[in-house]
Amino acid sequence: TDPVGPDYSVKFERLADKITADTVTVPKDYQVQILYSAGDKCETGSAGYAGTPQSWPDTETQAGGQHDGMHFYPLDGVDPNKGGLLAINHESTDNATLNLAVEGTKTRLSNVGVSVVEVARGDDGTWAVKANSRYNKRYTGNTVYNVGGPAASAVSSTRKVVGTLNNCASGPTPWGTYLTCEETTDNYLDPTQDEKGYGWVVEIDPYTPTSTAVKRTAMGRFDHENTAYMTDEANRVAFYMGDDGTPGCIYKFIPSKAYDPKNRAANLNLLDEGTLYAARFNDDGTGNWVELTHGKNNLTLNAIDPGNYTQTAPDQPPTPVIVNFASQADVLINTKVAARVAGATLMDRPEWITVGVDKTVYCTLTNNGSRKRTSAANPRISNSHGHIVRWKERGDSPLATTFEWELLLLAGQDPADGAAANVTGNIKGDEFSSPDGIRVDPQGRLWVQTDSGTGSNITDIFGNNSMYYIDQETGESKRFLVGPKGCEITGIAYTPDLATFFINIQHPNGVWNTKRAGGGDARSATIVVSRKDGKPVGA
Ligand code: FEO
Ligand code: CA
Ligand code: CA
Ligand code: CA
Repeated sequence: TDPVGPDYSVKFERLADKITADTVTVPKDYQVQILYSAGDKCETGSAGYAGTPQSWPDTETQAGGQHDGMHFYPLDGVDPNKGGLLAINHESTDNATLNLAVEGTKTRLSNVGVSVVEVARGDDGTWAVKANSRYNKRYTGNTVYNVGGPAASAVSSTRKVVGTLNNCASGPTPWGTYLTCEETTDNYLDPTQDEKGYGWVVEIDPYTPTSTAVKRTAMGRFDHENTAYMTDEANRVAFYMGDDGTPGCIYKFIPSKAYDPKNRAANLNLLDEGTLYAARFNDDGTGNWVELTHGKNNLTLNAIDPGNYTQTAPDQPPTPVIVNFASQADVLINTKVAARVAGATLMDRPEWITVGVDKTVYCTLTNNGSRKRTSAANPRISNSHGHIVRWKERGDSPLATTFEWELLLLAGQDPADGAAANVTGNIKGDEFSSPDGIRVDPQGRLWVQTDSGTGSNITDIFGNNSMYYIDQETGESKRFLVGPKGCEITGIAYTPDLATFFINIQHPNGVWNTKRAGGGDARSATIVVSRKDGKPVGA
């Protein structure tokens, strides 16, 4: 078996620069299969999109649009390399598959949320969704969710909210649940719903399709990207989270109690009680986790919010605003403001976070074209192409309150191209823009996926959005997969043997994966990527 740890013997043949083909391009020893597309059948009895736009209630039971974060869950009694559950986020709608003339709001709301599907690999190596599996289930913008944690009653007097929305990225828990993250704090598809009902981490139990998902207010309300966890030997756990705001902060949440690996039921409300922190990246390479607890770190009545001061020129003094935190619920509902008041660092749109096998934590900072004041951790004004920061917790402990950080790389063009300083980077190897998805796999390989603009001003330089292997020691980048026209690449899940990777192709707009004659309905999809010889991806 492969040793656990960074693998520097990645052998795939890198893809060429500037690929703009309208297909999924992979190295020559690899193959691609489309598994689960927007509108496909999900729950038992669903009709499935076949080329004619559909409306609610048909859309409520079939795959949503804009596949994003994702995780694979093994099933008891099933070889996990041949089958299991996929939980898949649907960040937004695939409008070409929808008939909005009938029940327009409900139809759009049914196209977002989460799919849970049982998937299995056939004898010929092809993967398929298992039709009629009892696990196949949709959680949508029309579903009712419970609300837990300190702000639950302030969010909803009934402790219930209709809908989850903008389900961007996600993460697993050590106890086998799925955390889907809402990247918006309001319901722009249905403004009649409670404005405080969104912007939360929502916990789904994919093994119990009859259960109600829960919005976990203790983890804070902001434009959530994903979650990634670190554990220690005593089964204490920290969840790292980015706020994809312009700019936003990086957070961690530490449940008050250890999780119990032998008693799953005892863990199912663990996320309702704990301490939320935001990160301060000091210019000297040290860092602090600032506690966001009412009464501490200026989180009181008459607190001073410095605002988004990084977006104003250095010669323009920021305009502070007085804000009142009367309770922990106030802190959790206004988490972005609380982090600024407490002195956390405003970062260039923190997207995914991942915890490596050596406990190094990585975060993509996708871009921030409007930054006017720099810090050491965000060193470029008008940061068009983004960067990647990494840190080590003190003592490699999830409970640490200090850390040491450094920049892994600045994305962007080769300085030899003669471009302006803010758009040139220091990538060794294959250049890219706007890192978003990031994941260290269990054999220690670091994968990065991009979400940059898809106009010719970007694709002429970098090609279509892509996925890269990054060497954690040298920072060298190697292009592994390039998506079809118009898409971003997101979502990384895999079977335990790493022979099967599941990747999401979000919002393609060419002729790849169309159902109608002549196209015009290019659909977001989960694809399967594997090596033709069945060995682990990247090995
Ligand atoms: Fe939905 Fe921040 O990407
Ligand atoms: Ca997206
Ligand atoms: Ca993202
Ligand atoms: Ca993005």
